[in-house]
Amino acid sequence: MMSQVGEKISVKTPEGEYPIFLGKGLLDLDPLPALAAQVRASAVCAVITNPTILSHHATRVIDSLRAKNFQPCVIEIPDGEQYKTLDTVRKIYDQLLGAQLDRRSIIFALGGGVVGDVAGFAAATFLRGVPFVQLPTTLLAMVDSSVGGKVGVDHPRGKNLIGAFKQPLAVIADTDTLATLPIEEFRCGMAEAVKHGIVGDAELFERLEKSKNWRAGVEDWLPRAIRVKADVVGRDPVEQGDRAKLNLGHTFGHAIEKVSDYRVRHGEGVAIGLVCASRLAARRGLCDAALGLRIEHLLRSIGLPTRIPRELATDAIIAAMQTDKKRVNAQLRFILPRAIGDVVIVDDVAREDVIATIEGARS
Ligand code: NAD
Ligand code: GLY
Repeated sequence: MMSQVGEKISVKTPEGEYPIFLGKGLLDLDPLPALAAQVRASAVCAVITNPTILSHHATRVIDSLRAKNFQPCVIEIPDGEQYKTLDTVRKIYDQLLGAQLDRRSIIFALGGGVVGDVAGFAAATFLRGVPFVQLPTTLLAMVDSSVGGKVGVDHPRGKNLIGAFKQPLAVIADTDTLATLPIEEFRCGMAEAVKHGIVGDAELFERLEKSKNWRAGVEDWLPRAIRVKADVVGRDPVEQGDRAKLNLGHTFGHAIEKVSDYRVRHGEGVAIGLVCASRLAARRGLCDAALGLRIEHLLRSIGLPTRIPRELATDAIIAAMQTDKKRVNAQLRFILPRAIGDVVIVDDVAREDVIATIEGARS
């Protein structure tokens, strides 16, 4: 298929900028030779992926790389959040060394957020850093995780506790890959898109409310959802200020994910977290209850969960929040909505309010 770059979005970084290419047929990797020239890339390179994505999309990537005179080695990691660990990264290092990658070898992350975060962390640390290209294949990775340079792994005590900032050379998002994505994973990406609407683009939120055709019409709204993230991380690349707002829903969401042993997917945790954040905001008088109902209505119509499963104990969720990396001086940090397109960072939430919010959001 001919590649069609529907959109090219630039993301500013402290060192310069990198492009996000978004469109159909982009796994033919047409922009690669120019990108490789920027870093004088070696021929030997690595594609990090998992067996699920390998079966759908890896042949295409490997053929494209070979056609451009690269010598790719394929590194498979097991599929699932439970493998987003330092142990997986250690096994990746072994294979990178075995394949004789050098400091100019590019690592390609072909997959969703888990592959992107793990492969990015390997790229940030292997030989003190090698070039890295994100090839996101989930909606969530296109909307959110492939953009902004946060890479890392989970620790048994909590999510994303070990990590780095590693800006990619480019993000190449081929929307054709979404054709094989299961519906529940597509919905997870929608949760992050809704989040981006609440954080900084009321018109995006309204569009998502009006459309019911999110999947078939993905090319219409996806660039807008990515731009919210690209703009925020361009202004605040290493989270000194406003970037924290992108964590809307995540203080609750990460804890719910963790306590469920990751049976609740990241996007599902974010959806429930968005509802909790809007209820907590109403409790503190930052917005009225109607805002939360509006957010909840959109999430439900997408098919996302909006209630905390009964089996996840409140105490366990509160305990999991204590390892949240947004915590400062032992104070939990919440991002709370005042309106669609307007959120604030709040550091002084009383424990009783958090407990009441969790209890009020149960199924
Ligand atoms: P994921 O990477 O686990 O992918 C979800 C599932 O979809 C997996 O089973 C995967 O194998 C499968 N899959 C991927 N692409 C497919 C395709 N095209 N066709 C069929 N199946 C496909 O989950 P995710 O939702 O993409 O990412 C969640 C992760 O991203 C979490 O670990 C979260 O913490 C992280 N995240 C990171 C950032 C960041 O800024 N770095 C931001 C948001 C989320
Ligand atoms: N997902 C939040 C961030 O990238 O900052």
